[in-house]
Amino acid sequence: IIEDVRVRKILDSRGNPTVEVDIITWNGFGRVAAPSGASTGSNEVAAFPQGGVDEVITDVEDLISSELIGMDSEDLTDIDSVLKEIDGTDDYSNIGGNTAVAVSMAVAKAAASSYSLPLYRYLGGNFKNEIPYPLGNILNGGAHAGIHAPDIQEFLVVPVSAKNISEAIFANVAVHKRLKELIQEKDKNFTGGKGDEGGWVPNISNYDALEIQHQACEEIGDEIGITIKPSLDLAASELWDSSVEKYVYGQDNISRDSGEQIEYVKEIIETYGMFYVEDPFDEADFDGFAQLTKAVGDKCLIVGDDSFVTNKNLLAKGIELKAGNGIIIKPNQIGSLSATYETVKLAKENNITPIVSHRSGETTDETIAHLAVAFSAPLIKTGAVGGERIAKLNELIRIEEELANPSMAKFD
Ligand code: PGA
Ligand code: ZN
Repeated sequence: IIEDVRVRKILDSRGNPTVEVDIITWNGFGRVAAPSGASTGSNEVAAFPQGGVDEVITDVEDLISSELIGMDSEDLTDIDSVLKEIDGTDDYSNIGGNTAVAVSMAVAKAAASSYSLPLYRYLGGNFKNEIPYPLGNILNGGAHAGIHAPDIQEFLVVPVSAKNISEAIFANVAVHKRLKELIQEKDKNFTGGKGDEGGWVPNISNYDALEIQHQACEEIGDEIGITIKPSLDLAASELWDSSVEKYVYGQDNISRDSGEQIEYVKEIIETYGMFYVEDPFDEADFDGFAQLTKAVGDKCLIVGDDSFVTNKNLLAKGIELKAGNGIIIKPNQIGSLSATYETVKLAKENNITPIVSHRSGETTDETIAHLAVAFSAPLIKTGAVGGERIAKLNELIRIEEELANPSMAKFD
């Protein structure tokens, strides 16, 4: 039974305020902080009410605690419904989706703790033994970096043949380190600066970034005997200029229309053997997603983030149109753990790969590591270095150690 709900304003990794929630039950405790995006999808729920985090502290906390105190922390779907009712809007703009999702996840953690269970086991049951492969972020561009960086937002790597999480995580950071050396050869003024998700931010072209990403994967892969594959998040909604109907690559001084964008991305996937490509088109261009999936979906994951925003109705539309074969799962895009689970379930039933993901503005909260294991998600995207990124990666090391029979996740 919930005895108290406490909400406080804390810092995120960009130095912006966010909310942290404590749920106190008579025999349990759960604490969760919410992250924030920079390249957000337009159909995401609102992160905060109009008055920001301060309004959550002054007004919303009392509203929520007066309703939730006395409820059972095991009744998560009821609690999520109550939060939705208190809010009264479609997009959580009164209480904030970040408030709602932090309460929702903290309730689940409190319930887990009342059984002395870790969250992944409480949510996933006894037989979960699969650890997700980490998508490590090695180079940042776009909205997560400065204006002289590549336009592609995230250059990622996946150690697809790693035998355990520790091997996987250290493979990713080895590539991150090697990439720094390769950048220094291309960008003489490189200062070692990093972007919001811990990848390097050099002043180089998109082409050069793709080339050295590939080179670093090959070199480190050969050195340590693991297959490491390159991946990307184009976050193309940020590149799309609707006034000229083109994707604008400012760093390269090139614009591409929808057809040219399909050809460009297809060529990148084929040239570099991309394992995973996220948001290659504007969030509304389900047709572009469908065409690319049809062309190369058998050899590459074509993943929707801004197009689906963890929303099961948008995913249902994507399934119908065959607009991708993977979906990014960010609980704060949809505002509750129950709704997040429903989206994951729909994805799995339709052979869409769920990828549990951090946001560019993060805290040291490690909950998504537990969600990835509980959902048997084959991939987790949570950076490679930086305190708020390694909080999740190190938690996966601990989880793997606890499992009786751990194995890395299967992609099929
Ligand atoms: P965001 O970016 O957290 O800034 O939305 C991450 C992503 O696009 O995957
Ligand atoms: Zn994305």
